[in-house]
Amino acid sequence: MRTQVCIIGGGPSGLLLSQLLHRKGIDSVVLERKTKEYVLGRIRAGVLEQGLVDLMRQAGVAARMESEGYVHDGTQISCGDALIRIDIKALTGKPVVVYGQTEVTRDLYEARENSGGQIEFNVEGVTIHDARTDAPSVTFMRDGTHHRIDCDFVAGCDGFHGVSRKTIPDDVRRDYEKVYPFGWLGVLSQTPPVDHELIYAASDRGFALASMRNSNLSRYYIQVPLSDRPDDWPDQTFWGEFKKRIPQGHAAKLITGPIIEKSIAPLRSFVTEPMRWGRLFLCGDAAHIVPPTGAKGLNTAASDVHYLYQGLCQHYLEGSDDGIDAYSDKALARIWKAERFSWWMTNLLHRFPEWSDFDLKMQQAEIDFLRSNEAAQRALAENYVGLPY
Ligand code: PHB
Repeated sequence: MRTQVCIIGGGPSGLLLSQLLHRKGIDSVVLERKTKEYVLGRIRAGVLEQGLVDLMRQAGVAARMESEGYVHDGTQISCGDALIRIDIKALTGKPVVVYGQTEVTRDLYEARENSGGQIEFNVEGVTIHDARTDAPSVTFMRDGTHHRIDCDFVAGCDGFHGVSRKTIPDDVRRDYEKVYPFGWLGVLSQTPPVDHELIYAASDRGFALASMRNSNLSRYYIQVPLSDRPDDWPDQTFWGEFKKRIPQGHAAKLITGPIIEKSIAPLRSFVTEPMRWGRLFLCGDAAHIVPPTGAKGLNTAASDVHYLYQGLCQHYLEGSDDGIDAYSDKALARIWKAERFSWWMTNLLHRFPEWSDFDLKMQQAEIDFLRSNEAAQRALAENYVGLPY
């Protein structure tokens, strides 16, 4: 097989890149280790920055997001029973859109399929060859047969555990990592959301988040110790704990009901540098991870896709490599700021087991400052809606 861009990973970043390139007449093949059903079974965050909303429009996949997504002009932070509303629209001129990552991925699959895009599922043993030459290739196995794709570029959109990052030699790559001493227990519940906006709740029992997918589907999270398992949290135990962490007024009106999914995810900050090695480019989780506080995971993948897409268009349509040569530096400059914001939000709202009384006072002062200071609220809002590409 031969293509222009071989994209490893059929998650949202790989599919979005493939669809954007297709609309400019640039050919790609997407390789995915799992099945489509598996990819669409993964529940991820659901807040889209304006930049990603615009990319969805450019990719021609915005219709369902426009009709079913919720435009949010604000977000809320609670501390005990006190509620701080951050009017993100008034502070930045932009809203965010609440629309599940799973739905973004579903829309992208549909678009790729409708335009005859080639996606190879169930591939095994993906290996990237000759990334430092002008003629890279990717080999893989499917149904017991060997396959080989010759290409101009390889886009590594295969997530944290994928082969792309590991293809960059250890002596070239530098990894930066922070592992947090807790995880998030997330539930999906067939109940109306407790508020029409999100609530990021700091409490003396730990963090909680009230989010949503639609008018009868809520997404709720609580901070839990890393040693906990979902089985440690029967539904009633979860609801009891969640109510203690959100403001009393909300706890009183919370509608509890059937929980259809429950899982625990550890929190991690991670960045690898550089994001380019020869003709291999890393995008999204393959290069960086953020803790979910701040909802930057999918949005940082989207800005990588934007820079890579621009660079590839310049290469193919204008004959200039300036864009791809600047890719790693441009992507990383934005990523580190999203890393900072996610780390800051995590510190602002969680209980760290090792913290001293002094650390707790600092956290309280930070929240009090945010409550009373518009510049602090604007700084939060500008990061939350997404820094410019
Ligand atoms: C979600 O809806 O799953 C969600 C929303 C905001 C976050 C993280 C997760 O910061």
